[in-house]
Amino acid sequence: MYRRYLTKFDLDKVRKEYCNVLIIGTGIAGLYTAVNIDEKYKVLMLAKNSIKENNSNLAQGGIAACISKDNDKKFHYMDTLKAGSFYNNEGAVKILVEEAAENIEKLIEFGTNFDRDEKNFLRATKEGGHSRRRVLHSKDETGKEIIRALTVKVKKRKNIIILEDTFAIDILTSKGRCIGAIVKSGKEIYCIISQVVVLATGGIGQVYQNTTNSKIATGDGIAMAFRAGAEIVDMEFVQFHPTALYDENNKKRFLISEAVRGEGAILRNSMGEAFMKKYHKLKDLAPRDIVSRAIFNEMNKENKPCVFLDITHKDKDFIKNRFPNIYNQCLLRGIDITKDYIPVCPVEHYIMGGIKTNYNGRTNIVGLYACGEAACTGVHGANRLASNSLLEGVVFGNRVAKDINSYIRNGNYYIYNIKSDGDQELVEKDRIEELRKNARKIMEKHAFILRSKKGLEEALIRIKEILEELNIYKRDDESFYECVNIMTVAYLIVSDALKRETSLGSHALVEN
Ligand code: FAD
Ligand code: SIN
Repeated sequence: MYRRYLTKFDLDKVRKEYCNVLIIGTGIAGLYTAVNIDEKYKVLMLAKNSIKENNSNLAQGGIAACISKDNDKKFHYMDTLKAGSFYNNEGAVKILVEEAAENIEKLIEFGTNFDRDEKNFLRATKEGGHSRRRVLHSKDETGKEIIRALTVKVKKRKNIIILEDTFAIDILTSKGRCIGAIVKSGKEIYCIISQVVVLATGGIGQVYQNTTNSKIATGDGIAMAFRAGAEIVDMEFVQFHPTALYDENNKKRFLISEAVRGEGAILRNSMGEAFMKKYHKLKDLAPRDIVSRAIFNEMNKENKPCVFLDITHKDKDFIKNRFPNIYNQCLLRGIDITKDYIPVCPVEHYIMGGIKTNYNGRTNIVGLYACGEAACTGVHGANRLASNSLLEGVVFGNRVAKDINSYIRNGNYYIYNIKSDGDQELVEKDRIEELRKNARKIMEKHAFILRSKKGLEEALIRIKEILEELNIYKRDDESFYECVNIMTVAYLIVSDALKRETSLGSHALVEN
C-alpha cells in the first residue's frame, strides 16, 4: 500500500555504524530497557528530538503497583481486566502485576524519588478504575522524576551512547530479519547495523487534532514496523483522556491528571451538576472510557466545548503542595484551581494497540523487538487502566532486555545488500503541512470518542487518497516522514475500527 522505504539509499554506499543493540526511543521503555542490557554489549539509543521530549516526561498521575500488600495483586489484576473490558491478554496482565514490585524497587535503587509520608512509607493515590490506592507518584510530575533518574543512570553507563536529534526513517529488513535502521542526523542519512533493534518510539497523539501528547508522538515506530511487515494489532482502541485543560487556542492540551479526581475532585456540567453519578457507580473514578463518553455526552447535550472539574472544596495548601505543576500551569492561564472550576474536555491520550509482541517483546520479525506504548502485548485490552503505562514500560522493558541478553550472546551481524529505489517527485513542504492538517481533522471528526460506520468509511476513502498522493512524493526531511507515518497510523486505526462491528472499551460505535 505504501512503498517499503521512505528514502532512497544503497546499503553498499552509505556510511555504516555498528552496535549490538539499537534502541529507538529514550522514553521510559527505551531507557529502562537500555539499563538492563548487559554492560558488555554496545547499545546505541536514538531520540528524534532531545532526550527529554517524550510522553514519559509528561506523565503526571503516577505508576500503578502493589508493592507491599500482597493481597492487592489480585485486585490490581481484576481492575486492569475490568478497565480493559476483559479483552486483555490475561498472561500479560499477570506478568504486569507480578513483576511490578521488583521493577519499582529497581527504579528506587536507580534514584527515583517517589512521594513518602512522615514515616517514610511510599504514598499511593487512586485514579479511575482503581479499587484501591496503589498509584505511586512524585507530586504531579512522576514521569519527569523517573526520566531524570533513568537518564542519570544511562549516562553513567559506558556501553550506552545516546544520539539526540537523530531520526529513524525505517528499519532495515531482509529475509524476515531486522538488521538495523536507516537514520537521518542533520543533513546526513546513514545506516546503523545492529544485532537487534528495539522500537520504543511511543504513541500516536499527533494523528489527532487535540492531544495531551508530546510533538514527537507521530506513530513512527508503528508505521515503520508496518512497512517492514510486522504484525500490527488492536489499533481501533485509542484512549481519550477525560480531563485535558480546555483552551480555545491550543490544540496541544495540558493534562489535568486523573489523580486530581483521585484526591476528591468532582466533574460538573455548566449547570454545576455533579453528573458522573448518572453514568457509573464509581462516579468520577469510573474507568477512563466511561468518563470520557459521559463528558462528551454532557458537552453535546449542553452544546458546550467543555465541562468543569471542581477541587475547590479541598484545602488550599494541600492542592498547591500535591499538584504544584497543575496549579502553576492553570494559574498561568488565569485559573486559580483552589477557587475556580477548571474547564476540561476529552482528547486523544494513548493507544492500546500497536506492534504485536510476545511476553518478551519479540515481534514476528527476527531481531525486532518492541516495548512501551508502541508495542501491544494485549495487556491493556480495549482500554488502559490509569497509570499502567509507565508500569508496562518498566516490566516489559526489563523482559526485552533479559531476552536480548541471552539472544545475542551467540548472535551475528547480518548485512544484506539492501537498496531502495523509486522515482518520486519532490514535494513542497507546504503541501505536506496541508495534508498533515487534513488528516488530523479527519481523525478528530470520524475516529474520535463516538464513531459511526459511515464516518469511518468516509475517513478511510480520504486517508487512502492522501496516502496515494504521498506515495508519489519524496522529500528528505522529518516533516515528510512524519506525515507518511501519521497517515499510515490513521489508516491502521480506521481500518481496524471498521473491522470491529460492535462497541468494546474505548471503541464506541453509534448509528451514523
Ligand atoms: P515515549 O516516552 O513517548 O518515548 C518515545 C521516544 O521515541 C522518544 O524519545 C522519541 O524521541 C523517540 N522516537 C519516536 N519516533 C522516533 C523516530 N522516528 N526516530 C527516533 N526516535 C524516535 N502513563 C502512566 O502510566 N501514568 C501517568 O501518570 C501518565 N501520565 C501521562 C500524562 C501525559 C500528559 C501523557 C501524554 C501520557 C501519560 N501517560 C501516563 C502515558 C505514558 O506517559 C506513556 O504511555 C509512556 O510514557 C510511553 O513511554 P514510551 O517510552 O513508550 O514512549
Ligand atoms: C493522568 O495523570 O491522569 C494520566 C495517567 C495515565 O495516563 O495513566
